Amino acid sequence: MRMVVLGLGYLGATHAACMAELGHEVLGIEVIPDKRAQLAAGEVPFYEPGLPELLKKHIDSGALKVSGSYTDAADFADVFFIAVGTPQKKGEYSADLQYVESAIEELVPLLTRDALILGKSTVPVGTAQKLSERVDELAKDVDVQIAWNPEFLREGFAVADTLHPDRVVLGAFPGSCAEEVCRDIYGSIISSGTPFIVTDPPTAELVKTSANAFLATKISFINAIAEVCDAAGADVRAIADAIGYDARIGRRFLNAGLGFGGGCLPKDIRAFMARAGELGAAEALSFLREVDNVNMRRRTRMVELTREVCGGSLLGKRIAILGAAFKPKSDDVRDSPALNVAGQIQLQGASVAVYDPKAMDNSRKLFPTLDYAVSAHEACDKADVVLVLTEWEEFVSLNPSDLEPFVRQRNIIDGRNCLDASSWKSAGWRYCA
Ligand code: UDX
Repeated sequence: MRMVVLGLGYLGATHAACMAELGHEVLGIEVIPDKRAQLAAGEVPFYEPGLPELLKKHIDSGALKVSGSYTDAADFADVFFIAVGTPQKKGEYSADLQYVESAIEELVPLLTRDALILGKSTVPVGTAQKLSERVDELAKDVDVQIAWNPEFLREGFAVADTLHPDRVVLGAFPGSCAEEVCRDIYGSIISSGTPFIVTDPPTAELVKTSANAFLATKISFINAIAEVCDAAGADVRAIADAIGYDARIGRRFLNAGLGFGGGCLPKDIRAFMARAGELGAAEALSFLREVDNVNMRRRTRMVELTREVCGGSLLGKRIAILGAAFKPKSDDVRDSPALNVAGQIQLQGASVAVYDPKAMDNSRKLFPTLDYAVSAHEACDKADVVLVLTEWEEFVSLNPSDLEPFVRQRNIIDGRNCLDASSWKSAGWRYCA
């Protein structure tokens, strides 16, 4: 089938390449010229394992084309995916829908044949209904339908999550052709037994926001338990393992540490709270404010812990920060807990040296005043404390003897509970987590 993907960021570029991999003919629309040129040359402008190979394969075969023109988009196909960003509004909790809205405003007046628009971006409940009314105003003598088909991919596993999702969810209005079209698009995925849930648009929108809210709650739950563990002298990792054996709870997303960041969970729970407020249901989601609070407290706690290890003041200390991405296998630093901690520590008078295997360029753009090192060794040079803030395998597999020639003092804080505490302690390091 021929289809267009509007927006080629983390979500859209992955979706476009994966749709080509499923055998479809895809045109990706990217309005930022530099990004578009890179993608058209078969290069991925961000780090996502497995995606460069897939993109190159389908750019080379011609199954995937890239353009910046909505006229090209309208000519190319009758099925359109919206995969543009929905960031948090500046100074507000709600989602900024300007990119979704402008995609609709630009595309629909150009359509000369009946079409289906499938939204993939994460949007507040009620968005499809609002957009559908606007589409009806904009469409000229053609039937343009809209439906929502949320995406659940994780950065770092985006290709596998798109090609082998846990479920496909579709929210369609009554009488829509969307179910039939999605059965074609995702034919091989659905026939391999992946659940295909067809519902109405508000439910589909809420499936996505509820999933992210639940994941955020799970992480903040274990981090709240970690606070109690700190006070009581208990081991949160052992608790997570023990409760995780209960199939009703499950061990995944119970890793205590510096908490969640990135371009999705933080802004999605805030947008969810804002939308519930607009709907008069603010009280129902008031617990998400505490989920957010627990999460933000982790960052402050990490700074305090570093100050404690430095003897009460960070002034004049040198701190090595290992990790800048919001999680491993990603170069994404949006709302990165690691960079937030690095910034706070610097503000308290320490010099920080940051190293990340993939996120250096993005970090420099966001926090140009931090010092950056070209390796973990260089970051640790003359360090009073080493902080591990993103659990990259490169850091998890470090041995105490790897860092000993470089550091000034043998202090390590494990912000992701990912190191083998006993090996650091037995090598004479002060280890905190
Ligand atoms: C998330 C959802 O998982 C995905 O389904 C949705 O489509 C987009 O948002 P992503 O933002 O890629 O995906 O990251 P995820 O793997 O969920 O991790 C989010 C954050 O939580 C990271 O900062 C990670 O370090 C943190 N995390 C995760 C924990 O602190 N503890 C855990 O146990 C798991």
